[in-house]
Amino acid sequence: MDARPIGLFDSGFGGLTVARAVIDLLPEEHLVYVGDTGRYPYGPRPLDEVRRFAGQITEKLVSDHDVKLIVVACNTAAAAGVRPAPAVPMISVIEPGVRAALRASESGRIGVIGTVGTVSSGAYQRSFATADTSGRVHLTCAACPGFVEFVERGETDSDQVYVLAERLLAPVVEAKVDTLLLGCTHYPFLARTISDVVGRDVVLVSSADETAFELRALLGDLELARPGPGPGAHMWISSGDVSTFRDLGRRLLGPEIEEVHRWDPSDLDPR
Ligand code: DGL
Repeated sequence: MDARPIGLFDSGFGGLTVARAVIDLLPEEHLVYVGDTGRYPYGPRPLDEVRRFAGQITEKLVSDHDVKLIVVACNTAAAAGVRPAPAVPMISVIEPGVRAALRASESGRIGVIGTVGTVSSGAYQRSFATADTSGRVHLTCAACPGFVEFVERGETDSDQVYVLAERLLAPVVEAKVDTLLLGCTHYPFLARTISDVVGRDVVLVSSADETAFELRALLGDLELARPGPGPGAHMWISSGDVSTFRDLGRRLLGPEIEEVHRWDPSDLDPR
């Protein structure tokens, strides 16, 4: 048993989809969440810059918060390749999402949508090639620049996001996928719009639940679980405006977001 917190991070609010699943499945665990809202979006940035930001966050989680395990709740950071901190296990959302999509698809025609950084990195293409032992998968990947910005503004259901979705999702509609993997942790917040555009018979897969199950299994295997007593405490940290993080975060994740702490990465990395 290990009472130290679990660290999770994302460029902003997207990782809250994963945090929600972790709180629901593992309510006794302490969590520290970092949303790098001061530097979002990661998607259009060069991957080596994203890797550097992710390295700063993992270092903060380990040295300031003594986390026992890190969940990379950001596909773009995972696709960029986060350097693991010594002796701190790390999991990301990519492999769990791929597993869930393979389970959900009947036809093998699977779509993946993500940021420009994630799609251009080839991380999903490689992960499907490894996990698809049957060779039946026909993968269609599409980048969706602009989706993250709508979520970060709290605009999850507008006409503008619908028009953008119609344009960006055209390749997956044309490919007649039966399953669409949301390869960006922000996208579950746009699920209604996405489902409306691709058709409600297409199964939308978010990696959040599968990542939480993988986390539970790993905590068990490594004997790192916190059995209690009492529910876990949650700490929220933002590199952007803390009151925006609190207000929008409560709308997106729920009442567990109370106080939000400010972190200024420009102390480490003047821009
Ligand atoms: N939630 C991040 C992801 O899963 C969004 C990246 C961004 O900030 O563009 O990729």
